[in-house]
Amino acid sequence: MQTFRVLGILGIFALLILGYAFWGRSGREASLPPAPAAKAIPVSQLTELQPVKDIQLEYHQPDMPAGPGREQFVTQCVICHSPRYVLNQPIFPRKTWTTEVAKMVKAYGAPITPEEQKPIVDYLVAWHGKEDPPAAPTQNTK
Ligand code: HEC
Repeated sequence: MQTFRVLGILGIFALLILGYAFWGRSGREASLPPAPAAKAIPVSQLTELQPVKDIQLEYHQPDMPAGPGREQFVTQCVICHSPRYVLNQPIFPRKTWTTEVAKMVKAYGAPITPEEQKPIVDYLVAWHGKEDPPAAPTQNTK
């Protein structure tokens, strides 16, 4: 008998809690003010409200003259740093530019194939370098 009474009381509590959860909530939702309807603004009015402004950003990249190898250079050598960074170097001879390009690949992992390296070196020599000085005449020891 005692058990039935306890179960009955628990049941009543459960019903009260459920009732509060369902009816209480729906009641609160119903009392919320309706969401404001989105007002459609025609595109023409949008541009009137916010006029389009053109801004000119400063441009610091050096002019890269046209020439063979330029395409490879602007594709491969500006991934990690600017072309200006390359131009900041002294006028290197071909040998140094060849080493530089190889260093980018070996030391820094530049994804440049061996076929692309030659035109890039040619371009660098033409744009910001010089040909290697002629090798010093070797001593004739005969
Ligand atoms: C994978 C990234 C990456 C690519 C691609 C890359 N570089 Fe570099 N480069 C670097 C890093 C890193 C440095 C060193 C920066 C430092 O020391 O602050 C560097 C430095 C340089 C320097 C300065 C001298 C030196 O040896 O540190 C030159 C010149 C240069 N790069 C040229 C090139 C050229 C030419 C190419 C295209 C063939 C190229 N880089 C492509 C990462 C790259």
